[in-house]
Amino acid sequence: MGEKIRLDKYLVEMGMGTRSQVKEAARKGRIRIDGIVETDTSRKVDPDKEQVSFDGEDVSYVRMEYYVLNKPQGVVSATEDRHYKTVVELIDQKQRKDLFPVGRLDVDTEGLLLITNDGELAHRLLSPKHHVDKKYYAIVEGMLPGDAAVQFEKGIVLKDGTVTMPAHLKVLKSSGEEGFKEGDVWEVSAKRGREGEEGFGKGNARVLVTVQEGKFHQVKRMFEALGCKVVYLKRMSMGPLVLDEGQKPGEYRALTEEELCLLQTFKGVAVDGGRSKDSTRLASVPKPTTKTKR
Ligand code: URA
Repeated sequence: MGEKIRLDKYLVEMGMGTRSQVKEAARKGRIRIDGIVETDTSRKVDPDKEQVSFDGEDVSYVRMEYYVLNKPQGVVSATEDRHYKTVVELIDQKQRKDLFPVGRLDVDTEGLLLITNDGELAHRLLSPKHHVDKKYYAIVEGMLPGDAAVQFEKGIVLKDGTVTMPAHLKVLKSSGEEGFKEGDVWEVSAKRGREGEEGFGKGNARVLVTVQEGKFHQVKRMFEALGCKVVYLKRMSMGPLVLDEGQKPGEYRALTEEELCLLQTFKGVAVDGGRSKDSTRLASVPKPTTKTKR
């Protein structure tokens, strides 16, 4: 048997009004359970067995909602904001009022963002203790040091003195480089640096970065500490969840049962390793049309 829930909580969570509005509506006989008027909003309802209606319309109870959004630039990762549109406002099919984004992407960052009301899952995905890889595609301006990947692997000392956890860097392309063929990937790891090289040359480097933390402006500050500037940033994946190639900025879809099961049972691995690395599909690296604003 499903868990019972108070009628007022049921209707407030399903967006039918505030608790006092729901109470007033019940007093006026606008709420029915299995076709019978119910005036007592403290009464408990079994959502699996009883049918609640409001002004003659059935109101089904949805406990949890999960959406994958491709966050566009110019929208904030928040539930409300005075100046910007929020990511939650983009989910126009939502039924619950308590949805929130799992983690934050900067206003000028695009990419994968999970929107849900499942606090337990959010905690598991965000806590660095759970080692969930967050993979970003970035375009970086400036001279990227030849040992950048080694530095990422060791942990970067940010300008405020904070040291980051080990992260993985894969340089996809550096525009100033001779002999670079489309599709070439420079994998620079702690074991195999590009010896004798000062850096990857001036120009835009296209990189994939994997981190397991979510410090404020983390990826941008990691490159800043190396004297570079991130001019475009997009999150490609979070643990086993990968952004669909065809999902345009601003588009969202419900999580599939399979994806939800994967996320709930996911056991993180060390950065740069195994499972999440498999989810890097070079074919899905975007061709950006817009640059960051700041
Ligand atoms: N790192 C950043 O700098 N910004 C983001 O939005 C996400 C990670």
